[in-house]
Amino acid sequence: MTDEFCKRCVTFIEMNAYLRYIQLWTSRMEVTLMAKRFAVILAAGQGTRMKSKIYKVLHPVAGRPMVMHVIKQLESLQLDELITVVGHGSETVKERIGHSTKFVTQEEQLGTGHAVIQAEDLLKNKAGTTLVVCGDTPLITAKTYKELLQHHEQTGAKATILSAKAPDPTGYGRIIRDDHDEVERIVEHKDANETEKLVDEINTGTYCFDNVALFEALQNVSNDNAQGEYYLPDVIEILRNASEKVSAHVTNDFSETIGINDRIALAEAEQIMKRRILEKHMHNGVTIIDPANTYIGPDVMIGQDTVIYPGTMISGETKIGTDNTIGPHTDITNCTIGNHLTINRSVVRESYLQDYAEIGPFANIRPESDVGKHVKVGQFVEVKKATIGEHSKIPHLSYIGDAELGENVNVGCGTITVNYDGKNKHLTTIEDDAFIGCNSNLVAPVTVKEGAYVAAGSTITTNVPKDSLGIARSRQTNKEGYARKLKKRKD
Ligand code: UD1
Ligand code: CA
Repeated sequence: MTDEFCKRCVTFIEMNAYLRYIQLWTSRMEVTLMAKRFAVILAAGQGTRMKSKIYKVLHPVAGRPMVMHVIKQLESLQLDELITVVGHGSETVKERIGHSTKFVTQEEQLGTGHAVIQAEDLLKNKAGTTLVVCGDTPLITAKTYKELLQHHEQTGAKATILSAKAPDPTGYGRIIRDDHDEVERIVEHKDANETEKLVDEINTGTYCFDNVALFEALQNVSNDNAQGEYYLPDVIEILRNASEKVSAHVTNDFSETIGINDRIALAEAEQIMKRRILEKHMHNGVTIIDPANTYIGPDVMIGQDTVIYPGTMISGETKIGTDNTIGPHTDITNCTIGNHLTINRSVVRESYLQDYAEIGPFANIRPESDVGKHVKVGQFVEVKKATIGEHSKIPHLSYIGDAELGENVNVGCGTITVNYDGKNKHLTTIEDDAFIGCNSNLVAPVTVKEGAYVAAGSTITTNVPKDSLGIARSRQTNKEGYARKLKKRKD
């Protein structure tokens, strides 16, 4: 009895080990045999319905050209090759995309099928899966692309459409299914009959194809349709008629798949993208008081416990640290901002703001400024290309441009660095612990040395030595009783 039991146990353990070995082996095989993956991004169209001088795929959503949203998501999938089909404004489009993808040109825009054929030289005969995406669907996430690829590769279909149920399918291609609920073909809105128009499952314009089958099927696409175009969706019916398996992966989030054909859809995409970005920051511990009135670009980074007040726009490659109070009504672009700052009703561009600085209300910090720790830049102060040392203060009504300020400098109200002589810009230097009296002009190039004072109302044209007082204004004279005389004259 015991022997029998032991024998069974041994067999059981051996079997398990064997199974595990098989599993390991097959998963390795999967990795080595995993098909190559390519992507073709369609971006050659003019975008007539946008009524714009700007090529459609370059219209920004949350400040980034819509085609770049598509490419960023695809990049995270680490595909073997990315190819963008360009046409209208190809040079401009290529410039904006840069080195992220390879390019092929579609000289004449004869339809989405014709657009894909342009990638033939780069892809034909390569074994693998080709993901075809439109440059005008910027909201589709890498997660959805991944799910589509998985669905396609698991079912072994030659083509898989990413489809969605649309509350209002007008304008989209409709997925037509047979009596067994299998995908049969796609019919474009303009070619659809009344019954087909009632179908609410739409083609999102995103597909996975067996690469070889795709280019073979494209040979048979014709332009015999309402728009006289070579439709990529026709490949589905062609493959199905050749008894190949075609499938659809239905995503449950239609809003992610909207195609931007006009400015109404563009505004919709902006709202969805905005919400998505704000939610990411809120999940990371940023307080956003009024999400409906806060705009943050896709490349902005914000640290925990920073609070953003209404009417604030933060864009470009801006990095913001922790525990800051930003806004209301503040506009920040391409800045690096430390921790524990207050920025109130101000504009800040391409600058570096350090910990505990207090900016605003109503300050304008222009590019190439470096605002040190605990610095105060107060109301109606414009700063341009200036370095301001720790604990220095420019509390009100000043212009500080092309300047280097040391630590603990106090700049009185109404001070102006006179940096421009009509031809060139010149530097004003104010060293540590200097004190500039109100309403002074510092005519650059000029230096106020360490610990020096400038008397209020001075126009300083030569350097003020260390610990000295620079005074440059006419001396006051009082004329006794003269006012009374003047008043009499008026009578
Ligand atoms: C396309 C699909 C439709 C789908 C919808 C999803 C076709 C025929 N129809 O329609 O089934 O529901 O997308 O949003 O494919 N493009 C080129 N070259 C061309 C034509 C277009 O590169 O010759 C590019 C465009 O720049 C755009 C994309 O392909 O990025 C889609 O073209 P568009 O004209 O917007 O197609 P839809 O009418 O929206
Ligand atoms: Ca479209």
